[in-house]
Formats: sequence, C-alpha cells, structure tokens
Amino acid sequence: MKNPIHYTKYGGLVGIGISLMFMLTVEGLSLTPATFLTYTIFGLVAGLFIAFFYTSTRMTLCRFAVYNKHLLLRIIHSYLVCTLAFSLVASIMTFTPWSFFPSLEFALNTSMGVGIIGAMVCFAFEYLAIKDERLLLEQENRELAVIEERNRLARELHDSVSQNLFGISLNLNTLELIFQDQPERAQALIKQVKEMVSEAQTEMRLMIYELQPAILQEKGFFEALETLCELFHTRYNIKIAPLFSGDETKVDTRTQLALYRVIQEALHNIVKHARATKAQVMLTIHDTGKVFAKIVDNGRGFDEKQTKKNEHFGLAGMRERISALNGDFRLNSVIGEGTSITVQIPK
Ligand SMILES: Nc1ncnc2c1ncn2[C@@H]1O[C@H](COP(=O)(O)OP(=O)(O)OP(=O)(O)O)[C@@H](O)[C@H]1O
Ligand SMILES: [Mg+2]
Repeated sequence: MKNPIHYTKYGGLVGIGISLMFMLTVEGLSLTPATFLTYTIFGLVAGLFIAFFYTSTRMTLCRFAVYNKHLLLRIIHSYLVCTLAFSLVASIMTFTPWSFFPSLEFALNTSMGVGIIGAMVCFAFEYLAIKDERLLLEQENRELAVIEERNRLARELHDSVSQNLFGISLNLNTLELIFQDQPERAQALIKQVKEMVSEAQTEMRLMIYELQPAILQEKGFFEALETLCELFHTRYNIKIAPLFSGDETKVDTRTQLALYRVIQEALHNIVKHARATKAQVMLTIHDTGKVFAKIVDNGRGFDEKQTKKNEHFGLAGMRERISALNGDFRLNSVIGEGTSITVQIPK
C-alpha cells in the first residue's frame, strides 16, 4: 500500500484538471482571464481538499483487512469521498460572488460527476500500484534465483573439480619426493594423476551441461557410491566399508546427487583432515523412500566451533544440500575418537 502523501500530491493537479475541463464545457468561448483564474483556484482548493479528505479516511480504513482486500470497496470509498468533498466546496462556492455554478442543485449534480472521475482515478492508481508490486516481486524472485544458482555452482565446483585438484596436488607432492628412488611407484602415481585430470575434465564438461557427476549418470546410485569408496581406498589408502541397503530407485536424482556429494565431501574431509585408518559409509533407503546415511571415521576428531566459517565451504555445502531437501544433517565429532555425520531425508 502506497503512502497517503503519494495521493495528496496529485490532488491539486487533478482538481485543476477537472475544473479546467468544467470551465471549457460551461464557459466555452466566453472565457475571460478572471473566470480562468476563478476556475483554477477553485480546482486547486477542491482538489487539495478532496485529496486531504481522501488520504485521511484512507489511512483509517487501511487498518481493516477487508478494505485492503477488495478493490471495489476502495473504489466506492473514493467515489463517496470525491462526491462529498466536492459538493461541500462547491456548495460554499455558490454563496460567494465568484460562483460559476448557476444553482446549488447544479453544484451538487456536478459533484456526482467528480465522484465518478475520482473513482476512475483511484482505479488507475490501484492498477498501477498492483502492477508495480508484481514487477518488484518478479525482480526479487529473479535475483533470488540467481543467488541460489550461484551457490549451487559454487557447491558443485567445490565438491567436484576442486576435490580432484586437491588429489592431483597431493600426488604431485609425493611424486616430487619419490620419482628418482621409486620409479615404479612414481609411474603408478603419474597414472593416477592422469586419471584425476581426465576425471576433472569430464566433471567440468558435464557440470557445464547438467551439473551432475559423470559417474551418477553412467552407473546406478549404489554402484556409483561403491566406485567412489573404492577410489578413495586406492588413492588415499584408507579402508572404507560401504554398507548400502534398500531400493535405490525410490530416491529421485536430486536426492541422489545431494547424497553423493555429501558422502564425497565427507570422505574428502576424512583424507584431508582426519588422519583416520578406517571409515564407514552406511546408506539405508526405506520402503517409504525415506533415506538414512551415516559416514564415520576413527580419526582425530575436531571441534566444529573452532572452524572459521568463511574459510571452509565443505561442511556448509553439505548442510545446504540437505536442508534444501528438508532433511536433517548432524555432525558429531569427538577429539581423539573420530567424526560421524548423520543425514536423514524424508520422502
Ligand atoms: N572428518 C574430519 N576429521 C577431522 N576434522 C575434520 C573432519 N571434517 C572436517 N574437519 C575439520 O572441519 C573443517 C571444516 O571442514 P570443511 O569441509 O568445511 O572445510 P575444508 O575441508 O577445510 O575446506 P573445503 O572448503 O575445501 O572443504 C576442516 O578444516 C577440518 O579442520
Ligand atoms: Mg572439506
């Protein structure tokens, strides 16, 4: 709802417009500078009075929901206010020497015409205001969608390509140390780095098109997760026990993608930070479609309160992904004992 001042500032102008129209129809060619001035001043006074009367009553009526809800009520209000306010000013005018109304009856009849014009002006303003509000809402929605899309892209980049880059740099560091003394192991590492680079390229290409990890498109959900666990085992030499049960077709692709990324990031955190020797990935899909997932490690654990929010994106991304599915994300970490992440997603 617009500020009442918004309407008041147009009052005088509308009044002048109406009175000039009136003047031309009544006076026609016999118009003199004196009558022109009289009509203009009368129009200004009547317009401001109508606007004042209208805005002050509108301020009171706006407190009632029914008034705000029904456009017809607002138009009737505007008709009544314009008719009453104009008839008051016009009646006073008929008793002055400058009156251009032939009679009081004529002045009152004119008021009804002014009321109709007032109702029409009100309708035009309301229409414009509704259009403005709709445009503003659409713009806000568009901006929100852009922000969401940016966050999604950032999460996807973090969970796919940047993880591969981390693995590549880790392998290159090891290569630097061993390539002279252990040429065979170095050869194996080079092979791994090549695989990672090609994986990152595939991920990037696919992400540009569909923002889905390549493997989830090629294989089934459980198979993709098993491959992920195997990859972590071969690349980072950590024992991972996968335990999946239920019917994977009960989970839609959006949920599959979120779970895949959460498990992938949890495993990445384990190799990056936990110094764990063992990890377990559990996933249960209930007949109802409800999903339960748990990723546990026996590493050094950490205190989540100590992690700086703006520097780490992995955990925040996991939370965002799960909350976007109305799911529940819990992290429990005990220093010296390990970390567990539990996720529950309703049907
Ligand atoms: N399983 C884990 N064991 C021990 N510490 C962990 C584990 N998972 C997370 N952390 C700690 O929590 C911090 C935040 O993790 P998060 O994944 O949000 O960021 P990150 O891994 O440091 O960086 P990135 O943004 O690349 O993921 C880590 O820096 C680490 O200290
Ligand atoms: Mg991380």
